Amino acid sequence: MRRRLSLVVPLFVCVTSVLAASPDIDPRVPALLARLTLEEKVGQLVQLSSRADMTGPVEKSSLTPQLQAGGVGSMLNVSGAAETRRWQQAAVASSRHGIPLLFALDVIHGYRTIFPIPLAAAASWDLACIEESERIAAAEAAAAGLHWTFAPMIDIARDARWGRIAEGAGEDPFLGAAVARARVRGLQGDGRYTAPDRLLACAKHFAAYGAAQAGRDYFTTDVTERVLREVYLPPFRAALDAGVATFMSGFNDLDGTPCSASGFLLTDILRREWDFGGFVVSDWASIREMIQHGSAGDLRAAAQQAMLAGLDMDMEGGAYAAHLAELVRSGAVPEARLDAAVSAVLSAKFRLGLFDDPYRFNDEARESATLLHPDHLAAARDLARRSCVLLKNTGVLPLAPETRTVALVGPLADAPLHQLGAWRARGRPEDTVTIRTALAEIFPGERLRYAPGCAVRGEDTTGFAAARAAAEAADVVLVALGEDADQSGESTSRTSLDLSGPQVALLRELRAAGKPIVLLLLTGRPLLLEEIESLVDAVLVAWHPGTMGGPAVADLLTGAANPSGRLPVSWPRRVGQLPLFYAHKNTGRPAPLDAGDRYYTRYLDAPNAPHFPFGFGLSYTTFAYDELRLASPTLRADGPPLTVRVRVRNTGSRAGEEVVQLYVRDRVGSVTRPVRELKGFAKIALAPGEARTVEFQITPADLAFWRADRTWGPEPGQFDVFVGPDATAELSASFRLE
Ligand code: NOJ
Repeated sequence: MRRRLSLVVPLFVCVTSVLAASPDIDPRVPALLARLTLEEKVGQLVQLSSRADMTGPVEKSSLTPQLQAGGVGSMLNVSGAAETRRWQQAAVASSRHGIPLLFALDVIHGYRTIFPIPLAAAASWDLACIEESERIAAAEAAAAGLHWTFAPMIDIARDARWGRIAEGAGEDPFLGAAVARARVRGLQGDGRYTAPDRLLACAKHFAAYGAAQAGRDYFTTDVTERVLREVYLPPFRAALDAGVATFMSGFNDLDGTPCSASGFLLTDILRREWDFGGFVVSDWASIREMIQHGSAGDLRAAAQQAMLAGLDMDMEGGAYAAHLAELVRSGAVPEARLDAAVSAVLSAKFRLGLFDDPYRFNDEARESATLLHPDHLAAARDLARRSCVLLKNTGVLPLAPETRTVALVGPLADAPLHQLGAWRARGRPEDTVTIRTALAEIFPGERLRYAPGCAVRGEDTTGFAAARAAAEAADVVLVALGEDADQSGESTSRTSLDLSGPQVALLRELRAAGKPIVLLLLTGRPLLLEEIESLVDAVLVAWHPGTMGGPAVADLLTGAANPSGRLPVSWPRRVGQLPLFYAHKNTGRPAPLDAGDRYYTRYLDAPNAPHFPFGFGLSYTTFAYDELRLASPTLRADGPPLTVRVRVRNTGSRAGEEVVQLYVRDRVGSVTRPVRELKGFAKIALAPGEARTVEFQITPADLAFWRADRTWGPEPGQFDVFVGPDATAELSASFRLE
């Protein structure tokens, strides 16, 4: 990767002129800009928290004088139609130009109605439902006075030790890009930002934040330009293509440069290659943190580096407020660069209609009519149902209709807060319908025997006896184990992916009761199951399923719904396998040469393969694939797409949904290529016995990669196609790209 520091000043003069002429800049901006002092311009680039509900250290001083002086352009962590109105009044009524504030919050998987965590939603492979969940999140948040969400988080994550794996769409750039597009469309709508029930979206964390070494949050990332472009950037490019209004820079340093100071990322790629016309916000204090990174000697240098690199708004870093005006006065930052950043921020405010009516998002009646609307709860339940992944089932699920008594055990069976997962926005535990509440309706009175057994953490086993008694008295035992909400999300890296506390011991205790056991795994990431798989008869991964997770899980347990979620990550057997992903390289020694060969790529103590492959998930029915056909043995570089058809049959006795997946392997390239890469998927519903031919189109662009000559594109040659239910799909055919 290149460092562009020596080029930054001339580069920015050029970028600025591009931006000034850009259609992205609202025509009303120049006149306003001309009236602003240097300090007022800088104010537009300052984002501060309300001093409550913070995600990092801040000074506790009052914001009002700064607002009155026009020194704040945006606030985060304030919400509610009434509260945001008060802050807006403070800014609009008393500042010289009355420029409205932009209000932002982390609305990551819902505002008040909390949807399944993003990793779970990705497991649905259902883009329409994901888009709808974001439309609802935006409608609720906008009704609560917000203009902007720090979402979608679209970091590819291939290491389950990293707690933020929960916030993204998993390991795969193709699925990640599809989900990114759906999320941006759901949040922003048609991208004109004029609707009062949508939000500005923010593609984060730019870039490769998910490649944190050793899975440790905030840690260094060091990926090659090839991996950056092929793996980490595609979801960002997809978000951009869907019209995303803003980007957020990552906390990480990438190839030695903190992302917030990276002209390579923020200018060369984002503005020059991709022609992005919105603005970039830092992550929390990430400009200031350049001092700790050791790339800036002081706050002034950090502000200069960030500004020259292309970072527009300073979230809680204090760097721009303290130094930017002086940097411009002294010529260390060109005023044209400042103007470009301010113009982008003001354009967003104009487009949102805030200059026409700063309070158009502040309608309490709309707010109370919108939050937790029954349609929103129904959508949350639907997405949660589609997100759960069935990993094992000996036949105990769905529960037999004649089931009389159910034991519900485990610390997460009745955990209204933890069920919501990380980043709950304004989700409230009292709104949550837990698994226990949902099952109590189906198994009333004594038919449901609830005993938590233990906590997620700690050592207390005093609840085991009651749990065992409940199990002994029941026909079947449902055990809700996993991670609590605080074990998942930002700053929750783990070196062990085993169930914490006494949870495994509880499972062993229950096993001794001799009843069939269903493990309901509530978690923000894959947890190791190898050791406990034999203790249970079924495993349903419910993730952190959100407000309506309880009814959704109940629907699946009873068979009212059929599991259709598929893993968006390769599920590891051992921590030592991480990072783990299906799209790895073949290497020069993929398999033993003969029976005695030990010098090939492997572990001595575990298989290379994951416990469950990417794309995997069971259903209460079964599917069969055949008749894979390519319309032609060749795809011409300048010709029409190649059509791939496959027949999929529901071979069981229940209706179900299958995620049909298409993978491609490029056999020989100017650089080594992954053993396979997802290039298409379709989620289809089939009645018992029904067969459907599913069609995919492969274009040359789908086969593009970062070639040896550092250009993006496909190369002619032989390709294999694999179609099936997961990344180990065996049905294959091949074609030539000419
Ligand atoms: C830090 C997180 O990394 C980022 O994702 C979030 O948007 C900001 N804090 C604001 O809360």
